[in-house]
Amino acid sequence: MSKKVFLKTFGCQMNVYDSNRILDVLKIIGYEKSESLNRADCFVLNTCHIRDKAKEKVYHEIGRVREFFLNKNKPLVIIAGCVAQAENTEMLKREPYIDLVIGPQSYHKLNEIILKFEKNKSKNQITDFDTIEKFNYLSKIRNKKSKVSSFLTIQEGCNKFCHFCVVPYTRGPEYSRPFDQIINEAKSLVQNGSKEIILLGQNVNAYNYVDVNKKLRLSDLIMSLENIDGIERIRYTTSHPRDMSKDLLDCYKESKKLMPLVHLPIQSGSNKILRLMNRKHKVEDYIYIFNYLKEINSKIEFSSDFIIGYPGEEIEDFENTLKLIDMIKFINSYSFIFSARPGTTASKLKPIDENVSKDRLKIIQEKLFGYQKLKNKALENKYIDVLVENEMKGQNKLFSRNEYMNSVILEGEKNLIGKKVQVKITKSNQNTLFGELNSKSKNKAA
Ligand code: SAM
Ligand code: SF4
Ligand code: F3S
Repeated sequence: MSKKVFLKTFGCQMNVYDSNRILDVLKIIGYEKSESLNRADCFVLNTCHIRDKAKEKVYHEIGRVREFFLNKNKPLVIIAGCVAQAENTEMLKREPYIDLVIGPQSYHKLNEIILKFEKNKSKNQITDFDTIEKFNYLSKIRNKKSKVSSFLTIQEGCNKFCHFCVVPYTRGPEYSRPFDQIINEAKSLVQNGSKEIILLGQNVNAYNYVDVNKKLRLSDLIMSLENIDGIERIRYTTSHPRDMSKDLLDCYKESKKLMPLVHLPIQSGSNKILRLMNRKHKVEDYIYIFNYLKEINSKIEFSSDFIIGYPGEEIEDFENTLKLIDMIKFINSYSFIFSARPGTTASKLKPIDENVSKDRLKIIQEKLFGYQKLKNKALENKYIDVLVENEMKGQNKLFSRNEYMNSVILEGEKNLIGKKVQVKITKSNQNTLFGELNSKSKNKAA
């Protein structure tokens, strides 16, 4: 009988990708994915360190697992991801229930340490930045993901060291995977049924791989994926304004499969705050990119991330962020109150009043959500293309996404999964659109 592994994921899309790859790796030594903690022989927690009480969240989760298995056999407990990287040996000392700790660049060693543990119960932690080895190993194991929309990591780590951010410490230095490795993985995802590929990287547009004296960039990858039959949609995330090079911007002219949504975090609309954050780009650079792309295709929409209440943020800085939002009218954005991360430069700065941050967050979110609702409302009674991703559990409805990543719910047969269809939007709210299948699409899918 195979052993069962239950895996829980916190954090960003890259952690979601990593979790799937961890499952592919564990399969080699006989672990099958379990949908519940019940009867799990192994529990993996893939952690995130980006904000708030990340560490405490992990210990809390372990406490819950311990309680769950109180009168049962204890599972093998593995902590992976960015908290594992940051805390390493500390975790084994503080929480004896944890057996193994493994950082994001060491997943190729996972089976080795599990087998050792199974043999002699030796607790272990591995947190080397061994990115090249990791991807060489992973590229030999087929990515078994069979989702209509699939993540594909092309770049990892970061050399930018924004003063608020832990990523350069938890993911290590910037590394770009070999071009052919990525193309092969994309082809295998297409064979599994993927229609949409979302290229991932902490700085995805810093992708830079030298192949026989030729510098290959994100734009080269996009244009190569464009030629793969079966791929219908291409996206990439998360990009940095500094790396929005002309070749990448021009992909929006040349590619028919690159989606017209640009997720480009700016963090603040104030140059003073951007400087204090060590972002190395200005608001003007961002506006230039926006205007350049709007000129290419006026249907292109932007989304962003914002940090509110960064140390030194004064009311004028905050107002500049609001002005920028009114100018760009983001389709969808994420906003967070600044969270001091251990070891980062910003953690040593004098924080601003928490209540001021909370008030500002409320104001900014009202504005962001307002534009989001308006943009969704404007789609009502219009016909739009969606890619059907899956059936919604217990609801007899289908889940799909439009070009801008908005969720679109519709009624329809299961055979539409994986197909691009046209729907008429009948209703909308801030986060979701509801649509009816255009009768022509119904006939096409039958
Ligand atoms: N590489 C991306 C970039 O340059 O914008 C960001 C990646 S980070 C994983 C995702 C988002 O988390 C950031 O855009 C930022 O808004 C937010 N974030 C990162 N550190 C934060 C902190 N200390 N406090 C609050 N939000 C933070
Ligand atoms: Fe973090 Fe992004 Fe800055 Fe890198 S570029 S330090 S990942 S916010
Ligand atoms: Fe979190 Fe690490 Fe991603 S800190 S956001 S899981 S890169």
